[in-house]
Amino acid sequence: MLREFEKNGQSVDAALVTWSPETLRKILAEDLPDAQVIVVSNREPYIHNETKDGEVELVVPASGLVSALEPITRACAGTWIAYGGGTADRRVVDRNDRVEVPPDHPSYTLRRVWLSDDEYQGYYLGFANEGLWPLCHIAFTRPIFRESDWEAYEAVNRKFAETVVAEARNERPIVLVQDYHFALLPRMIRERLPEAIVITFWHIPWPNSEVFSICPWRERILDGLLGSSIVGFHTQFHANNFTESVDRFMESRIERADAAISYGGQVTLVHSYPISIEWPAELLKCLPSVEECRARVRRRFKIPAGAKLCVGVERLDYTKGILDRFHALEELFIRHPEMVGNVVFLQIAAPSRGTLPAYKQLHEECLRYAEELNQRYGGGSYRPVVMVAEHHSQLSVYELYRAADICMVTSLHDGMNLVAKEFVASRDDEQGVLLLSTFAGASRELLEALIVNPYDAAMMSEAMLQALTMGPDEQHERMRRMREIVRDNNVYRWAGSMLLDAARLRKRGDLDRVTASYDRPTGPASDNVVSMFERKQAVGFR
Ligand code: G6P
Repeated sequence: MLREFEKNGQSVDAALVTWSPETLRKILAEDLPDAQVIVVSNREPYIHNETKDGEVELVVPASGLVSALEPITRACAGTWIAYGGGTADRRVVDRNDRVEVPPDHPSYTLRRVWLSDDEYQGYYLGFANEGLWPLCHIAFTRPIFRESDWEAYEAVNRKFAETVVAEARNERPIVLVQDYHFALLPRMIRERLPEAIVITFWHIPWPNSEVFSICPWRERILDGLLGSSIVGFHTQFHANNFTESVDRFMESRIERADAAISYGGQVTLVHSYPISIEWPAELLKCLPSVEECRARVRRRFKIPAGAKLCVGVERLDYTKGILDRFHALEELFIRHPEMVGNVVFLQIAAPSRGTLPAYKQLHEECLRYAEELNQRYGGGSYRPVVMVAEHHSQLSVYELYRAADICMVTSLHDGMNLVAKEFVASRDDEQGVLLLSTFAGASRELLEALIVNPYDAAMMSEAMLQALTMGPDEQHERMRRMREIVRDNNVYRWAGSMLLDAARLRKRGDLDRVTASYDRPTGPASDNVVSMFERKQAVGFR
């Protein structure tokens, strides 16, 4: 189908293709022959840790980014470069710091990058997570900008750029740069490998230009990102915010109709690609029926027989709206006292960034509020809130989804949020209700969820009541529709759309090189930039 479209000079409509690992492999083989795919992220897909008795234990981290990119990298047999943060990571790599993964069925190379404590502190905890994270999420936690963190961030981005160059088998790899840890990396790669296609995906929201303007290094960040061939966001809204920021702070030319920015003689496309999950979810094969999952989970967490189970699953992060969920539960009990005893809220919160003050404080507040709710509304063996601040494997998380009557995803702000999609994917019985924040990118796609404003406890409590009393037919209708959406817009489509765009850019780049030989510039350099830009538009540059 892809071939037919291309032959007829039409652009491929991603919606008409059935996306699978096979489709990705085909695109790579036919549209990007010999291209090496290199993924760069901070968080590695497999962490090797040392246990108390000196054994090596494997952990798959709680990260939407990892769960989305892992199936893709497997399909592409690529190289994944990431920070080696596990306590046993050095024990399992070869002399080039590489290890083949997944361990039980190796299909790609993980190349680990080592960071000193100071680098980790400044780049990851400092600039990325105390600066950029709150800046982009607007969850009303003040960003902290320190000069020393910025210097570490720049140095670590450079270290990763050198690793990309070392891992590149030729001058023209396709580099998929992931997230806010690497805003400077695209420019650094572009300087060293000018023919590389660099696709940068920003997994978190991008704020409006006024909010972004408080960042002391705003121009450097934009300049870094504009080293990319394509910058991707989950939603058009965040792509537009990015373009606005460039418009406001950089000398550039913006072609809104083509979603293209021309800056410093180079063109960057700014597109939205909504991330997703693999479909069908492989994990389902390892899980028993919904009834069995319900029985197991209810036994494990001592959920009383008559009570409905409402779950929240995420990293323990202030952007996720965990406290707001507890407020809504309390509001539900105040407005509808008959619900006391009839619902249990189970919150799984995987600790991350736990040394940062904002995260420590959130952890304490969550435990305190959960305890207060249990004292105020619990009795006998009934505890309305069960809070488990521990890492859970993906398998046990899917078991939980299957056991739940309701899943609450009430982020204050979120690029996409894959928990919402995972919950839907886990429910092959087509039952269960999703409450979804209007400020999560997923709410643009999963319209049949009960969409809520997490800042409005009264509204959320009414949505909880609606979910708790929703009949099986309505649940079925909503869930069936959402499952169709997640099935059609799966993670292979997310990656495939980017790879197709990469293939188009590569073809046009090749065309440019050919035409450049008879289209030598006569005027000043900037005239040539414009003529290049216009020529790209003439060949259908979008
Ligand atoms: C978010 C970020 C990812 C990150 C994940 C886990 O989803 O966008 O880049 O990997 O959180 O956070 P952590 O800091 O624990 O890696």
